[in-house]
Amino acid sequence: MNAFQDKTAIVTGGASGIGRALCIELAKRGALITVADINGSGAEEVARKIISGGGRASAVRVDVANKEELQALIHQIGRLDYMFNNAGFAFTGELRDTSEELWRKIVNINLWGVIHGSTAAYAVMLGQGSGHIVNTASAAGLLPIPMQAAYVTTKHAVVGFTKVLRAEAADFGIRVSVVCPGFIDTAMIRNSPVLNARLEDLEAKIPFRKYPAEKMAMDIIQGVLRNKAVILSPYYTRVLVKGYQLFPTLMEKTIGRKTARDFRSIRREP
Ligand code: NAI
Repeated sequence: MNAFQDKTAIVTGGASGIGRALCIELAKRGALITVADINGSGAEEVARKIISGGGRASAVRVDVANKEELQALIHQIGRLDYMFNNAGFAFTGELRDTSEELWRKIVNINLWGVIHGSTAAYAVMLGQGSGHIVNTASAAGLLPIPMQAAYVTTKHAVVGFTKVLRAEAADFGIRVSVVCPGFIDTAMIRNSPVLNARLEDLEAKIPFRKYPAEKMAMDIIQGVLRNKAVILSPYYTRVLVKGYQLFPTLMEKTIGRKTARDFRSIRREP
């Protein structure tokens, strides 16, 4: 029996990258998809692609930082089987270069977006006695990656929030998982702002190969089917996280400081 057949799923950030790949894969498995994104035309393009392939989808423009917009979407859908709080924003740079405006933007999207989406979906799912909330954090939600203070802050918070909700929700028949991707080949990686350095110089310093969004979406689906608490992929993220759990001081002194020095070698004074 296909667990997604005729189930409803909302995917925030569904217009691009991991969210887009998830929408397409879930639709192939028979789910009814709501592609939700602040990029309304991008969401429509994904919904059209799904429909032209014989799937079922609709598109909606929504800003996850706006509680009322997200609540209205979730309540109007009626039955909600899967809520993927996937929309996100990233930038790279030192704390000393990070403006309060950027801090507020990233917290509003990456953290408040997940809190708003989870809270509204949870209320609907409590009424049903079933459902699965899947929040996208990052490997940066488990590792203190230098030059990512704001992103790491939001993603650690999403990991903690999601683990607590998982424990609270279990007795009500509601499943909750957190996704922690590594370095995925999406627009976020290609376009995200870099403070006082060039993106090309930064990319040259990153030692990992980009993992395809389509493969990440398949890993998420497998993790959801197994009701995993933490869906961590690709493989090297599992090695890094285990290494950090076992040897935090060693990791900080080696990889952590090297990452900081590497960034300083490409940083240009403002
Ligand atoms: P992406 O940039 O390809 O897609 C993100 C989508 O979120 C875009 O369509 C964008 O329009 C949408 N979005 C941004 N702000 C929004 C808002 N306020 N309301 C609604 N939609 C909004 O990025 P990607 O890589 O697919 O990211 C998806 C998730 O995966 C994010 O939460 C990101 O932090 C996370 N992630 C990505 C990694 C990567 O290497 N690409 C690594 C770890 C986590």
